[in-house]
Amino acid sequence: MRVFDKRYLDQLATVYDKKTVEGLNSKLAEKDHILLNHSGVVLPGKDTSRFQKDGFKESDLLYCLHDLEKDLVVFATKHIGKILSGGYILDAGCGAGGSAILINKESGCKIDGYTLSEKQKDFANHVAEEYGVSKTVKFYQGNMLNLENVSSHTFDVVWACESTEHVSRKDLQVMFKEFSRVTIPKSKVVIIAWTSRAGLHKDGKRIKKALDEYYLTDIHLEQDYIAAARKEGWLATETLDLADMTLPYWELRQKSNNATGSEKIFIEGYKNDALSYILYVFGKRNN
Ligand SMILES: C[S@@+](CC[C@H](N)C(=O)[O-])C[C@H]1O[C@@H](n2cnc3c(N)ncnc32)[C@H](O)[C@@H]1O
Repeated sequence: MRVFDKRYLDQLATVYDKKTVEGLNSKLAEKDHILLNHSGVVLPGKDTSRFQKDGFKESDLLYCLHDLEKDLVVFATKHIGKILSGGYILDAGCGAGGSAILINKESGCKIDGYTLSEKQKDFANHVAEEYGVSKTVKFYQGNMLNLENVSSHTFDVVWACESTEHVSRKDLQVMFKEFSRVTIPKSKVVIIAWTSRAGLHKDGKRIKKALDEYYLTDIHLEQDYIAAARKEGWLATETLDLADMTLPYWELRQKSNNATGSEKIFIEGYKNDALSYILYVFGKRNN
């Protein structure tokens, strides 16, 4: 078994323990308890224009931001493709469970989520109970690079939203290898990730560094995912840049009294094309 950097994993767990009880993510989940630790997207046809004018209520803006974050899940779930309601999904780096509960609502699938944070795991299981889905949506504390309690060939789909940025570049292949082990032959991996243009764009390196320091990440190049996946038998069947859809979310978020400070980095990155926001779908080779 590979030994991972325990100090880093513990540090990350502490960060997400804290985000479960305070800060913008937890504030957005106050009403419906669907706690999300990811960005939002403005889907075609969604009107957010009233926030362009002054005088909007902060509570309305927070409601809108939460809605846009939920829309990301609804949008990306469609890219999982046809899984029967008997499908079984691994939510790798599940956060506090909001996405899994929404995916279950959209697809009826059974879902196991894994997070490093004990508080996220407890919160998520509690909310699954509250939503009456605790028999089909379950959360565990564990490392998605080494799912030691998961039998081989368990899942139909792996979903990883804004979690793989925390995997170091040298471990990306390890991650895809573990995803191979725990999935059945005709499975899919859906990844949503901020990807860097370091070395490809004049501001790419600076934007990556600023976000990596802020979020304790190692944001990868778009190509890094494709290369690491390929080595473990996964072929990218879809690569979609959602930058234009997520930029307005960050612009709206910057107007909030509850903005966290990272908004300006995302806005600059997406506006200048120094950062991208990629939705990948990978399928197993020879299937
Ligand atoms: C930005 S949050 C995203 C949470 C969730 N996917 C969402 O969309 O709301 C990152 C999550 O990845 C998890 N994570 C990071 N590295 C992990 C690892 N090696 N194993 C399990 N979870 C991990 C963290 O615990 C955290 O829950």
